[in-house]
Amino acid sequence: MSAKSTIGLVGLATMGANLARNIANKGFHISVFNRTTEKTEKFIQDFGKESKDKLHGSKTLKEFVASLETPRKIILLVKAGQPVDDMITELATLLDKNDIIIDCGNSHFKDTERRQNALASQGLNFIGCGISGGEEGALHGPSLMPGGSKAAWEKIRPIFEKVAAKDFAGKPCVIHIGDLGSGHFVKMVHNGIEYAIMQILAESYDILKTIGKFTNPELSKIFAGYNKNSNLKSFLIEITTKIFNKKEDGKFIIDYIKDAAGQKGTGKWTTEIAHDLGIYSPTINVAVDARIVSGDTSGRTMCQQFFTLKTSKTKLSPAAKKKLIKQVEDALELSTILCYEQGLGLIVKADREYKWNLNYAEIIRIWQGGCIIRSTYLKDLAIALGKDQKASGKIFTKIMKNLGGDKQKFWRKLMSLSLENGIPVPAFYATLNYYDSYAKARLPQNLIQAQRDFFGAHGYERTDKEGSFHTEW
Ligand code: 6PG
Repeated sequence: MSAKSTIGLVGLATMGANLARNIANKGFHISVFNRTTEKTEKFIQDFGKESKDKLHGSKTLKEFVASLETPRKIILLVKAGQPVDDMITELATLLDKNDIIIDCGNSHFKDTERRQNALASQGLNFIGCGISGGEEGALHGPSLMPGGSKAAWEKIRPIFEKVAAKDFAGKPCVIHIGDLGSGHFVKMVHNGIEYAIMQILAESYDILKTIGKFTNPELSKIFAGYNKNSNLKSFLIEITTKIFNKKEDGKFIIDYIKDAAGQKGTGKWTTEIAHDLGIYSPTINVAVDARIVSGDTSGRTMCQQFFTLKTSKTKLSPAAKKKLIKQVEDALELSTILCYEQGLGLIVKADREYKWNLNYAEIIRIWQGGCIIRSTYLKDLAIALGKDQKASGKIFTKIMKNLGGDKQKFWRKLMSLSLENGIPVPAFYATLNYYDSYAKARLPQNLIQAQRDFFGAHGYERTDKEGSFHTEW
């Protein structure tokens, strides 16, 4: 290759390989590097032709860096944590002032800020960019959430805007989120919402299968029905309908998958930061816990000897089965809306705390395409958060009326039915508690204040007069 590449990418695991192909397919020359040279060679062999020779492999990091236009733009898609630091350290010795490293892994936003500060002292730019959409998204159009220097963003903008997915209006699902680690923060919250919605979908499945006795093909049809509801139509429900229908060797795969859910940490980080910032996000918290308990297979086996479920086995008539489908839909609809609300609450609080000056409507807009939590509801939510006051007021009222309406009655009924039948519904229940906690004018924490004052003289405030009080109990 004589001319230099517009951009480079390090790390050819699934996400890196697919993103590199996407960039090349959009017409940009891209150099790639992987620690194992054979992997790089095979990648070029397999996909070089696809983009008419826009992909260029390098054997060494030095050769890779030398193959790039300046200021160099280098995407990292290596395993989050120490491997990112190791690669940065190696690269930094080869780069020149103003070069840009873009970490597209699921890094913790505090690590991103530490790396930005360290590299800034060497005159290097570091962008922490959340990327969502899994391997398909990386290949055909992900949602991208870059944070860091605005000037550095402007340099990568033409490439990122071409590579990103499109929103409902055809605009690219990427914006400069804000300074510092804000891009990785927003991606982390995206994942927190992802955990929460996946858990309520799993609970819906449990209820429909256990109480409704629906078969896998029936479940697929039920979820396809939910996907016609404009507040529910989403990527996660769409893949759920496909999962229930998938067979291998004549067997439904879903019935043979072990029930221990994995997690790589972004959900847990979301709950940690929510607690640090004092934000109530119970659905995300219990979604993380639910994965933990699902993975505690030995603990569950041990407890099953002693914890006998003294529960009902509700038998439903065909009419009652129909009603159950509707109850789940209503609970799912309100819960999903409140999952987004919890995530958004966290973004708003962090924005105020860290003074990022984020554009909430735009963040919601770039989640409309490409990402795992994309949903048609985000069209309304983006308008509700937008600058057009008339349109925003109208949609906001519509959302709030829906939340305050009768659908909650079905949701409450569904909760008692689930508990009577011994079905754990932590996420549905936590979301209903979220709703009720914000709906009630007075919570019982006056008793906690009294107890704290009783044993620790912590003091309390009163409703009938100003000041701080202590009682000799
Ligand atoms: C995405 C996803 C992705 C995440 C996986 C697995 O937006 O494309 O959030 O980034 O890594 O969903 O996450 P867990 O292993 O923690 O479930």
